[in-house]
Amino acid sequence: MSIQMKYSLVFFVTLALVAGSFVAGLTTLRDQVLRNEAEAVADQVISFRAWVAGTGMIWVDKLAPGFTDFLAEKKTAHGSFYGKNPALATRELSTIANKTALRATFLVTSDEYRQPANKPDAFESSAIAAFKSDRDLTYVDGYQGNTYRYARPIFVKKGCLKCHGNPKDAPPEVIAKYGSDKAFGYKVGDVRGIISVKLPAITWQGILPIMSNPIAITLLVLAFLLNFIFTKRVIIKRLVNLTNDATAVAKGKLSTTMDYTDPGKSNDEIDHAYHAVNLLKKSMIIIMKRAKKK
Ligand code: HEC
Repeated sequence: MSIQMKYSLVFFVTLALVAGSFVAGLTTLRDQVLRNEAEAVADQVISFRAWVAGTGMIWVDKLAPGFTDFLAEKKTAHGSFYGKNPALATRELSTIANKTALRATFLVTSDEYRQPANKPDAFESSAIAAFKSDRDLTYVDGYQGNTYRYARPIFVKKGCLKCHGNPKDAPPEVIAKYGSDKAFGYKVGDVRGIISVKLPAITWQGILPIMSNPIAITLLVLAFLLNFIFTKRVIIKRLVNLTNDATAVAKGKLSTTMDYTDPGKSNDEIDHAYHAVNLLKKSMIIIMKRAKKK
């Protein structure tokens, strides 16, 4: 195999290794990008929930189609008002998000869910179990086909106990609507559930066209040309010359001149090889002269 061939092989293997490390880096970056996006969605959900929780209940005077659920009803001179507690309002927000959002969808769910629409799927159930067994776990994420899944735990605070502690303390509307056996008996600090976020995964089919842009390809071709020209001109061409010169000397053509930089001025190994062959040639000339004299 020629040096050119061997070097090209080394070049491509090096390229593959560099590409491999690049892919590993990109994979981490992709995970981080998706996690950041999911975290932002979860933060929004928490803020929205906190806004509703701040008033205890938000009251609406009209039940929009598809959003007819309410926890309490207040009859006033201006007609009926319907109360939506934080969890219910969050579920309605999630319904809207899941219908209209192009990217992120979310669900607040629990292993002990009151609301059938909040039923967890396999990923969500295993995330809840993971948060229950490891209190320091701040999130769980992963890929499911082309979907990125993310879950963050929701812990029970003092204010939650009113409706998730002892059923005796619970507002009658909660008992009337959900019964007294579902999602009660929690203590402060317990994992009550999770915020679960789904995002379309960033796939390699999506990344490759971005990476194979004209500039990237041009730079790659330039890198290959640079290496190709270097091996051709600096190594191979000079090795071929050296071989030709040495062959000529071996055939008795002692007038052959060798063009190289003196090893005292050059660190180049081919110059050193040239110099050695030149010394050999000079020795041959001396031996020939002595042989002629005799
Ligand atoms: C006013 C009563 C009330 C309070 C206070 C309350 N919840 Fe709830 N919670 C409910 C009701 C009612 C539901 C069911 C809502 C629905 O139908 O979607 C629920 C549902 C949930 C769910 C969704 C799973 C399910 O059961 O369907 C989670 C998670 C949850 N609550 C956590 C909390 C946390 C954490 C707190 C305290 C920060 C809290 N809740 C405070 C009444 C309450």
